[in-house]
Amino acid sequence: MDRMTAKAGGRLVGEARAPSDKSMSHRALMLGAVAAGETRITQLLEAGDVLSTAAALRACGASVEREQGTWVVRHGAWSDPERALDLGNAGTGVRLLMGLLSGRGGYFSFVGDPSLMRRPMGRVLEPLRQMGLSFDSNDGRLPVNISPSGLKGIRYELPMASAQVKSAILLAGMSAEGPTTVVEPVPTRDHTERMLNAFGAEVSTNGSEVTIQPGAELQSPGDLTIPSDPSSAAFPMVAALIVPGSEVLLHEVMLNPRRAGLIGTLRKMGARIEERDRRTLGGEEVADLAISASALKAIRVPHDDVPDMIDEIPILAVAAATAEGTMRIEGLEELKVKESDRLAATAGLLRAAGVTCRTGDDWLEIDGAPSVPGGGTVDTDHDHRIGMATLVLGMVCDAPMSITGASAIASSFPTFRTLMNDLGAEIAEA
Ligand code: S3P
Repeated sequence: MDRMTAKAGGRLVGEARAPSDKSMSHRALMLGAVAAGETRITQLLEAGDVLSTAAALRACGASVEREQGTWVVRHGAWSDPERALDLGNAGTGVRLLMGLLSGRGGYFSFVGDPSLMRRPMGRVLEPLRQMGLSFDSNDGRLPVNISPSGLKGIRYELPMASAQVKSAILLAGMSAEGPTTVVEPVPTRDHTERMLNAFGAEVSTNGSEVTIQPGAELQSPGDLTIPSDPSSAAFPMVAALIVPGSEVLLHEVMLNPRRAGLIGTLRKMGARIEERDRRTLGGEEVADLAISASALKAIRVPHDDVPDMIDEIPILAVAAATAEGTMRIEGLEELKVKESDRLAATAGLLRAAGVTCRTGDDWLEIDGAPSVPGGGTVDTDHDHRIGMATLVLGMVCDAPMSITGASAIASSFPTFRTLMNDLGAEIAEA
């Protein structure tokens, strides 16, 4: 059944590893598919979005196989796919692939699920057009069809903070004539830059500018390991903070500074999150996080803090609903073009639980309260994070919270229900 319900139960106790990082998994598959040599990926995220990228690369002729738990990617005979590449729910998948494939001299068409079909692609197509790409689109949305084009390097000032757009331009820049520079208004996640360097590309960062020199033939580094996704770990993390008496250890959480914003914000709210055994894995910093239930206080989150936790706003709003005081989060304009209009959807899930909140064009204000009524049902509208945030809120409500469209959760966190229930949550498939 496509419905799940979470009710308040006992405290959460135990250890878990949230699934592997989605951003890194997409990038590892894509670079492996265009690099010389074999790329062996350990702990690839096996979830809907990443499997869509794997299938699209296979349709283009790459060899992407799972061999006893390790994903082995080999450069294939690159060919025009017979059908449109269907990226499902994966915004990262479709936008990065458009960049990767645009300089490769083929015909490629892109489609997706109802959520992806309504998301803006013009933000990627405009810089690619400036580089020389020929394409047509449905008024800046999918379906998008691209044709063989010779690309030239450009200097592009990003109009918004977007790692997907930055990455698409850099990936296209690999096969352009002359260097390509992207200028960022605010720094965003740099997994593409790090991974391109690991594959032997010439990428350099100078302040807010990232430049790629074309022409380097990518060479697989051999083995890659993907650590746990901080955006997925955020759900058990906040659950452990707000369910009284909880003590949870989350293993191997990736702590790239451009992804760790939620932890800093929660600490400012009074969260007890202790880092243990900081180390490097897959070219990124990771640590185990010991989380203890904490009395949270509302704070004001300014605009510039948002890019480092862009995917964590729904679950931060859930934490705010139980905090003391009124929380204000600013700079949320990009939330409106995520898997759903996440600004409206976050306010919607809070209201469905009886939480008082207000929204403006790019801000959200939440009145925290010691008890939350609950008792509502929220449709995910194809948005995994709205589904998971609602269920975590349900764990502290007086009456259960339900979601419909629960299958959306599988795009990033297929094991969500069992992982949470193993810690002591009471989430039922009904
Ligand atoms: C991602 C970048 C972000 C983020 C998304 C993953 C990436 O999107 O929301 O979940 O892997 O590059 P934007 O680039 O649209 O901000």
